[in-house]
Amino acid sequence: MSFTGDQLRTLYLEYFAEKAHKILPSSSLIPHGDPTLLLTTAGMVQFKPYFLGKEKPPAPRLTTCQKCFRTTDIDSVGDASHLTFFEMLGNFSIGDYFKQEAIDFAWEFVTERLKIPSERLWTTVYLDDDEAVKLWQAKGVPDNRIVRLGEKDNFWGPAGDSGPCGPCSEIHYDFGEAAGCGEPGCCGPACKCGRFCEIWNLVFVQYDQDKSGARIPLKNPSIDTGMGLERLTTIMQGKSGVYQTDRFDYLLDKVANVSGKKYGAGGETDRAMRIVAEHSRSITFLIADGVIPSNEGRGYVLRRLLRRTALFGRMLGLEKPFMVPLVETVIDRMAPVYPELSVRRGFITELVAREESRFAETLFTGMQILDEMMASEEAQLKRKITGTQAFKLYDTYGFPLDLTAEIASSNGFEVDAEGFDHEMERQREKARGAHKFALNENINISESIIIVKRKQTCFTGYDTLVQQAVVDGILVNNSSADAIREGEEGGIILDKTPFYAEMGGQVGDTGELVSGESLFVVTDTLPLSPGVFLHQGYVSRGHIGIGDEVSARVNVQRRSDIARNHTATHLLQAALREVLGGHVQQRGSVVGPDRLRFDFSHLKAVTSEEIARVEDIVNERIRENHSVAAVETGYQEALKSGVTALFGEKYGEKVRVLSIGADTHVSAELCGGTHIKATGEIGFFKVVSESSVGAGLRRIEAVTGRGAAVYFRDQVRSFHERLEKFQAEVEAGKNTIAALQRDLAKKDALALLTSARAIPGGKLLVASVAEAGIETLREMADLLRDRLGSAVVVLGSVAGEKPVFVAAVTQDLVAKGYHAGNIIKRLSEIAGGGGGGRPNLAQGGGRDASKLSAALEAVEEFIR
Ligand code: SER
Repeated sequence: MSFTGDQLRTLYLEYFAEKAHKILPSSSLIPHGDPTLLLTTAGMVQFKPYFLGKEKPPAPRLTTCQKCFRTTDIDSVGDASHLTFFEMLGNFSIGDYFKQEAIDFAWEFVTERLKIPSERLWTTVYLDDDEAVKLWQAKGVPDNRIVRLGEKDNFWGPAGDSGPCGPCSEIHYDFGEAAGCGEPGCCGPACKCGRFCEIWNLVFVQYDQDKSGARIPLKNPSIDTGMGLERLTTIMQGKSGVYQTDRFDYLLDKVANVSGKKYGAGGETDRAMRIVAEHSRSITFLIADGVIPSNEGRGYVLRRLLRRTALFGRMLGLEKPFMVPLVETVIDRMAPVYPELSVRRGFITELVAREESRFAETLFTGMQILDEMMASEEAQLKRKITGTQAFKLYDTYGFPLDLTAEIASSNGFEVDAEGFDHEMERQREKARGAHKFALNENINISESIIIVKRKQTCFTGYDTLVQQAVVDGILVNNSSADAIREGEEGGIILDKTPFYAEMGGQVGDTGELVSGESLFVVTDTLPLSPGVFLHQGYVSRGHIGIGDEVSARVNVQRRSDIARNHTATHLLQAALREVLGGHVQQRGSVVGPDRLRFDFSHLKAVTSEEIARVEDIVNERIRENHSVAAVETGYQEALKSGVTALFGEKYGEKVRVLSIGADTHVSAELCGGTHIKATGEIGFFKVVSESSVGAGLRRIEAVTGRGAAVYFRDQVRSFHERLEKFQAEVEAGKNTIAALQRDLAKKDALALLTSARAIPGGKLLVASVAEAGIETLREMADLLRDRLGSAVVVLGSVAGEKPVFVAAVTQDLVAKGYHAGNIIKRLSEIAGGGGGGRPNLAQGGGRDASKLSAALEAVEEFIR
C-alpha cells in the first residue's frame, strides 16, 4: 500500500486518537523554559514536566507530530538518510499504560494499519528486558528477530543533560539480505550496512537522570515513542532514500530548476543538491519558530545552515541569490500542516534574502583570507589551518568551522578543530565573566528555593489590592527564619497575596505588609519558584514572625500605572501588526510603572511615519474606551479563536485570555498580567524611542497616563529651557556681530584717511561706505573727524536699500561757516529725501539709492 507522507501523519494521529489519546499540536522548535536544550530534539521535550510529575498533563494519553531538529547530524546531511529537521510521530502515556499497551499499539499500527509484512520486521530490546522479549514473542516475532542490545542502542535519553529516560525497544525494517553486508553473526539491526532501518523507538520512561548521571526511579513509569515521518514515508513508498519520497522530491525539482542541474547523476552534484534542499527546509522552519541568525546558540545553528546552503549553492554554480524561491516552495508545500509558515512568509523570505546577500560579501573576503592562509609557507608545509586561523575566519568573517574545513579539505588541507574549540571556549569564558558580574548584583534566590518549599501562594491581586494574609515563610540572608526584625532586609511569603510577582515582563508590585504596629516595606515581589511569591523588602518598624496575620497593601498608584502600560502594550502589539504586518511577534517585554518596553521581530527600522500611525491607532483605541476583560479558557479553544500567544512559550491546559473590545475584538492575547478595566484609563500613549536590539529585532519604548504627562511636561520644560538658552545665544551673537562690525568699520574708516582733500581752513573727506547703518556711519564720521583735526567729513551708504548720509564738522570749521546740517539737507534733496541737523553733526537719508554717488560727488562743489 502506498501512502503520501501527509496521509501517514494523519493515519498515525487518528489511530492513537481512536485509542483514547489526545492529539496535541507540535510545540515550537525553541523549547520553552528548558535551558538544557538548544532546540526541540524529540516529541517528548514539551512533556518533560509531565513525566517528572511537576505539571499535570491535559490527558494521560497524548499523541503528536512534533517538529524536531538535531544538530548532531548537520555534517552528515547529504547522504541518503540524515536530516537536521524532521517530523516525529509519537504517542505518550503519562503514568497511564506501560510496556504491554505500547507494544500492542505499535505492532497493530505497523502490521494492520500500515500492513507492513511482519517478516520484514525485527525488534530490539534492552539487555535484561525479558518482559519486552516476551511481549514481542507473543506478537509472533521469532526469537532470531528479537535482538538484545546495550545502553548505546537501547537506552534512550535524557534529552539535554538531565531529565526523563529509560530502556527502550525498537522496531526495525529489513530491506532484505540482498541489501546487507552479509557478515555472518554480525549483520543485524545494529549494523550500519544499510539492510536495516529503525522505524519506531518505544521508550519505557522509568528514570529521572540528574546532571551527574545518577538515575532516580520515577514514581509513575511512562511511555514515550517516536517514529520519524520521513523514514516511515521512505519505507512505505518503497524508496531507498528519503530524497526520493514526496517529502523531498518537489524540493529537489525546485533546486534543479533554479540551478539548471539535473538530479540523479550521483556524485558531488547530487550531494550538494540534497544539502541545499534539506537545509532550505530546516531554515524555513527555524525562522518560522523565531530563530534569528546570530553568532551563538540556536541563532548560530541557523546561520551555519544558511551559509552551508550558500556554499553548496555555489558548488552548483549559483552565483546570484537563489534561496528565496526554495524557501517559498517549502512554505507552499508545508503550510497546510504548519500554518505558522504562511503567517510569517514575508518575514522568512526577507530574512533569508538578507542573510544570503550579507554572506555573499563575507564569503568573498573570507575566501581570499583563507586562500592567503593556505598559501603561507607554514601552512603549505604542514597542510594545516591552525585553530587560531579557523577561529579568526569564524569570528571576523562568519565562516562556520565546517565550512572552513570543507574548503580546506577540497584543497588538501586539514583544520585544527581542537585548537578552534579552545579559542571558542576562551571567548565563551570572557562572555561568562561579563555575565557573572551582572548576576552577582541580584539576590541569590536559587539557594532559597531549596530552603523554602512552601505550598503555592494564592494570588488575589486581579480583584483586590488589600488582602488579609498569614505569614507562611521568612527569608533573612537567604536562609529561612522565624522572624524578621526592625532594620533587617529579607523576604516574606504569604498564604495569599494581592502583590503581583514579576512575570511575563510585568514588574513586581511594591507596597507594605502591616501587622499591628509593625511594618514591612515591600520593594519588589518575585516568583521564588513557580507559584510561590516572595515579597522582598525590609522591616521599617517592629518585627514580623511566622504565623502573623498581616494586611498586605499594594501601592495602588504604581499598580495602576503598570496596568495602564500593560494594556497599552497589548494595543501596541495589535497596532504594530496592523501597520507593519502579521510577522510582528513579541520577543520580549518589560512593563513598568513609568514606561513600557516592547521587543519584536521586524527587519527594518520603523520609520517615523509608521510610528505616527501606530501612535494614532493606539490613541484612537484609547479614546474609543474599549472594555478590557480576562477569561479563563482551554488552551486549544483559545488558539482556535485566534488569540495571540507568545512565541515559543508553553502554556498550561487552562489559559487566561485578555481581550480588549467586547464586540470589536481589538486584541486577544494569552496573558497573566494585571490590566485596567477600559482603555480610556490609559489616557494617552506616546512612543519615546525606537531602536535595534539585534538582527531582525526592534525595540519600542513608550509612555502612557501619568508617565506621558511627566514626559510631555519634561519635554515642554526642556524645550523652553533650550529656547531661552538659544535666544540668549542669539542676543549675545548679535552683540558680538555689532562689535565686530564696529571694529571693521573702524578699520575701513582709517583706510579712508588718505582720501581727504584740502579745503579752505582744513580738510574735506567724502566717501561712500559699503552697507553700513546710520549708527556705523556716525561712529566712522566721529573717528575720522577726530583724526583729521580740522575737517568736514561726509559719509554715505545704502542701508535697507535706501541712501543714508552723515556729516560731521570740527568746531573750528563750524566757526568758519561750514554747516553739517546744511550739507545733509542738500544731499538728501539730491537723493530724493530729507534731513538736517546741527552744524557740527547731522544725518539724513533719501529714497533713491542710485543717487548716492551723484549726491556725494556734489559735496565738493557746493561746499567751497
Ligand atoms: N524520545 C525518543 C526518541 O526521540 C522516542 O520518542 O527517539
